[in-house]
Amino acid sequence: MSATSVETASMTTAAEKPLFVTDQSRIERLRDRFHQVRNFTNTLCVGLEPEDCVVQSMPDVSPTKWHLAHTTWFFETFILKKFVTGYRAEIPEYAYLFNSYYNAAGDMHRRDLRGLISRPTLSQAQRYRASVDSHIDDLLSSADETLLDEIEPILVLGIHHEQQHQELLITDVKHVFAQNPLYPVFRAGGTRHSVRAETRTATAIPRGPYQFIDFEETVTVIGHNGDGFAYDNEGPRHQALVPSFSLATRPVTNGEYVAFIEDNGYNRPEFWLSLGWTTANEQRWNAPLYWKKHDGAWWNFTLSGLRPVDPSEPVTHVSYFEADAYANWAGARLPTEFEWERAALNCPIQGNFVETELFHPAPVASASSAVALAKADVSVERREQHPHLVQMFGDVWEWTRSAYSPYPGYRAAPGALGEYNGKFMCNQYVLRGGSCATSRNHIRHTYRNFFQPEKRWQFTGIRLARDAQ
Ligand SMILES: [Fe+2]
Repeated sequence: MSATSVETASMTTAAEKPLFVTDQSRIERLRDRFHQVRNFTNTLCVGLEPEDCVVQSMPDVSPTKWHLAHTTWFFETFILKKFVTGYRAEIPEYAYLFNSYYNAAGDMHRRDLRGLISRPTLSQAQRYRASVDSHIDDLLSSADETLLDEIEPILVLGIHHEQQHQELLITDVKHVFAQNPLYPVFRAGGTRHSVRAETRTATAIPRGPYQFIDFEETVTVIGHNGDGFAYDNEGPRHQALVPSFSLATRPVTNGEYVAFIEDNGYNRPEFWLSLGWTTANEQRWNAPLYWKKHDGAWWNFTLSGLRPVDPSEPVTHVSYFEADAYANWAGARLPTEFEWERAALNCPIQGNFVETELFHPAPVASASSAVALAKADVSVERREQHPHLVQMFGDVWEWTRSAYSPYPGYRAAPGALGEYNGKFMCNQYVLRGGSCATSRNHIRHTYRNFFQPEKRWQFTGIRLARDAQ
């Protein structure tokens, strides 16, 4: 991530206010945001026991303890070691243990062996967090405008980096708990705050089949416009021709996915990419990750425990291969990321994000659509006549058929932070829209998530598209 690409446009300039006031408000704003995000990581860990925090259930999963320490290492490495004169790490070996993939920052411990590291203990990792937070506070308190100009872009990047790891922490805990026959509960109940209210609002909203909305061919502007923070992979902003297409009004549900399963979808190679067919057979996939069949009924392991599959929820924990096979079976296809971004342009960023503490996709037409209807002050009848996109944001990341590639003119920045995104632009697919584990203020219309096509442990789902009829 290029430090220079991080915007600071919202800052008050010295010309507008006395210098002292500007300095303090800027520092306080930065410090508040830093602590708010750091504290939310700690909040997510409430209820976890130390034993929960050290398990690595597969190479893609990192122990909670590692997430706590790695996000801390990021601030220590890219801010404290760079900007605090004479800074000495209390435990220099952490630089090796908690570097993830930044070759320019030095050697690193093997990712697939993170679960073998019993020391530092969880409490030592938490002390590491507190120590680095304290040093960041001291640095901010004494920084002048010139230093703040240098620190702020990296601090903001570190905050967004931590939010990404919060999502990974949640999905990693889910994978760890899913291995346990006791089916531990991460958060009981699963419905709190606004989602509960939205669900009530939605009782009058029918859950009919999805419809398709037509979009005319157009040349559209793709990528971030420079207003506020964005990752470097969201630019450069450029024009793209998007031929006419149709996009489904909502994500595919569990109930619809069960129909694919019952139609023998997992055993019919005509729907599958060759690599997907091989993978599905090797892995013996016959349903989304976390589904189990008991006495003829499908059950779903969630962060609130094991429960029957709810047919009205968006299907999640499916790979790109499964999403693509489902789309073929349904006589449709996955959208490109350009179609998705074009369609999402007028969709407000609202829905079921991590702040709702549901930690699971909300039933279709019960979360985002309820919010959209309430905010738009439009009658249900009129909405039915004019179908609209719902649940574009939150609930499940939506697989697109777009390979994760650089936009025209993209160049990764030199140095370690240039390794943030650019070097992963190979063999991965773009996902859009965020999930129930994403922070509301982390997602954007232009946000490009990416995973390899066989990955299933994130909250990944399906929205169908079609060529123009
Ligand atoms: Fe990271």
